[in-house]
Amino acid sequence: MKIGLYPGSFDPFTVGHLDVLWHASSLFDRVYVSILRNSAKQPVFTEEERVDLIRKVISDAGIDRVEVLTFDGLTVKHAKALGAGYLIRGLRAITDFEYEFSMDALNRHLAPEIQTVYFMAKPEHSFLSSSKVREIGSLGGSIHGLVPECIEKMITERLAQQ
Ligand code: PNS
Repeated sequence: MKIGLYPGSFDPFTVGHLDVLWHASSLFDRVYVSILRNSAKQPVFTEEERVDLIRKVISDAGIDRVEVLTFDGLTVKHAKALGAGYLIRGLRAITDFEYEFSMDALNRHLAPEIQTVYFMAKPEHSFLSSSKVREIGSLGGSIHGLVPECIEKMITERLAQQ
């Protein structure tokens, strides 16, 4: 059974993340979307809120064989505990490459048996990041089209309180 782990901050989950998940779910027998807990970053959405938002998106999009979790510690350790042989990441632009390249090298050092697979973002998502969504939303701009429609209202309201 091919199991993939899609780790990240997802603060918040965007249409770019959804696109990656959509493609990954068609290639793997099971995909775990897992949110890093206790990251050094000060998140806007709590871990519980992010789990709920992503579950709603998955159910709304009708994506099968996907489970949403949280984790702390090393991603590869979490992958091993889940029986996942693959890490899933999205690549938007050349700027992502350096970060992903070093993360891949370190993860390979820690767990050579785990492979990372990358999904290229759609050109229209190449500019999109959770941090830009947070910035636009907290400054009162429209995030329509940047986050999945079923969670847009919740995200908009929450960011407006920032
Ligand atoms: O969505 P993000 O914030 O780019 O995700 C980054 C994430 C969570 C994948 C990365 O920070 C991570 O794997 N953190 C866990 C700690 C770890 O395993 N470090 C070693 C690899 S560099």
